[in-house]
Amino acid sequence: MPAPSAFDPAALLRLLPRALAQRLDLHWLAECASTNDEAMRLPLPEPERLSVVGADRQTRGRGRQARVWQSWPGASLTFSCLFAFPAGTTLEALPLAVGAALARGLQALGAAEVGLKWPNDVLIAGAKVAGVLIEAQSRSTAPIRVVVGVGLNLDLPPDFHPEGGLPATALARHLSPLPPRDALLAALLERLDAVRAAYLAGHGFAPWQEQWNALDAYRGLPVAVRDGERELVGIAAGVDETGRLLLDTAGGHIACCVGDVSLRPLA
Ligand code: BTN
Repeated sequence: MPAPSAFDPAALLRLLPRALAQRLDLHWLAECASTNDEAMRLPLPEPERLSVVGADRQTRGRGRQARVWQSWPGASLTFSCLFAFPAGTTLEALPLAVGAALARGLQALGAAEVGLKWPNDVLIAGAKVAGVLIEAQSRSTAPIRVVVGVGLNLDLPPDFHPEGGLPATALARHLSPLPPRDALLAALLERLDAVRAAYLAGHGFAPWQEQWNALDAYRGLPVAVRDGERELVGIAAGVDETGRLLLDTAGGHIACCVGDVSLRPLA
């Protein structure tokens, strides 16, 4: 595992478009339990501003479905963005838009074989390189507080086996030289800010549906979608405009809202 190189906020600001750098409130911590928890505690920003909490080390990183998110100092980029949306903003398919934005950011940095697994796992060469945990708090009249937490593996111990079955990979295995964390964060924040702006403007997932489908790593493949005891089997056929996963099954076309997707070997 690499020695941690210091995160340089000044380098991040230099790399961002000036207009975004001026709207960014960055809080970089040596250690915290979870950057999502820290971001949830921040004062709500104005909707056009971007508040970001990053940490060199998380002691209780959380993943989706109550899983633990493991990361190692210097070997991960862990951060959370806090967005404020006016009450009533439709947040449909936000996790998918975030996944597509991250995937495009990694491609812009030079990574090849980048793909997506529904709803928002980011893959390289079929293995998970980044995960997203989105948490929201809303009251009927107040702005909606949305925290978008991102964990990007930069390096991994060779014997690491993640929870959840999907193999993991790390960016250093696919991108050489690996850019420093400030440069990685700049590339990702630029695209995440575009997601914030699109949802604020009411465009929602529409600008990302086509990109999501182009990046879909499972499209055309036989998959099983498990939701508790229920399992649906079919051929993955992309996502619709509301972010539902489409499956071609023996019984017809089905749209799935929830579930864990796994590849199913052909019989
Ligand atoms: C997943 O794929 O299960 C989601 C992983 C999300 C991990 C990130 S790391 C930064 C932020 N803080 C957390 O506690 N979780 C997210």
